[in-house]
Amino acid sequence: MAESRPRVWVSQPLFDDVIARLGEYFEVVSTSQVSEYTPQQVSAALAEVDGALITLNERIGSEQIAGAQRLRAIANVGVGYNNLDVPALSAAGIIATNTPDVLTETTADFGFALLMATARRITEAERWLREGHWRQWSFQNLLGADLHGSTLGILGMGRIGQGIARRASGFDMKVLYHNRSRLPEAVERQTRASYVGFDALLAQADHLVLVLPYSKENHHLIDARALLQMKPTATLVNIARGGIVDEGALADALGNGRLAAAGLDVFEGEPAVDPRLLALRNVVLTPHIASGSLATRRAMVSLAVDNLIAAMGFGPDAGSPPNQIGA
Ligand code: GLV
Repeated sequence: MAESRPRVWVSQPLFDDVIARLGEYFEVVSTSQVSEYTPQQVSAALAEVDGALITLNERIGSEQIAGAQRLRAIANVGVGYNNLDVPALSAAGIIATNTPDVLTETTADFGFALLMATARRITEAERWLREGHWRQWSFQNLLGADLHGSTLGILGMGRIGQGIARRASGFDMKVLYHNRSRLPEAVERQTRASYVGFDALLAQADHLVLVLPYSKENHHLIDARALLQMKPTATLVNIARGGIVDEGALADALGNGRLAAAGLDVFEGEPAVDPRLLALRNVVLTPHIASGSLATRRAMVSLAVDNLIAAMGFGPDAGSPPNQIGA
């Protein structure tokens, strides 16, 4: 009798032609619908498969793998993996992977775009125009803050943070960064970025971009106290994870003039957005699209497919997927 092939679950629709490669090795269970799963539905799907290719929508912890006796690997399509309980997966012998590098430049592009839109009030100005308020060109209308010549603060100086720093030097910005550990001097020179303490970063930045990975330790790192340390003229951009910012405190600061503007691509309870943020005019809101160019999203899926094939013991990297998390 022919041996049955391992079965893998693909949780969301993700470019059929890229996913098709999984069919060379596995029986593939996929969906053509963008799906919102309950935790129980994720458990039920995982209980039936040997591997899974999932997105940041699917949260996987000890409860979801409790009945997944056959599960050997989870490939996350994304660089951030706070949707996975990595210690629980490791303890159960399940390999987890992510998709770094392929999205670095696209995400840095977007971080910069969001910063420009926020500082120069682009979406607010467009709304104003569409709403028919433009009667006459006026000198003091919709004035924003300059990027060129200003001080950019980058919190989290990994690959994406460094990409943003490189873009900033083209705008003649002074770049300060804070990171868990200071970068080698050669990287500081190449990115033209100077290391400062967390409080100094908050106090000196004209624009602050958050690009650090989310963890329990940095939950609400940007809280009311941190916001109070920032310049009232400053802009804050978050392309990391929503949980890093206390959104209530941010809405207060934006509403009472303690902070000029914010650009947010990520939210604590996404896809829900705090109604107070929705009501403010000085915040640019985008639906978690920083890595969302067509080429990059395809590259992310392709890398996750490679990772899953390798983690399941097939292909050129059989058994040692290059992007294993927590190995
Ligand atoms: C997106 O947010 C990612 O982590 O790739």
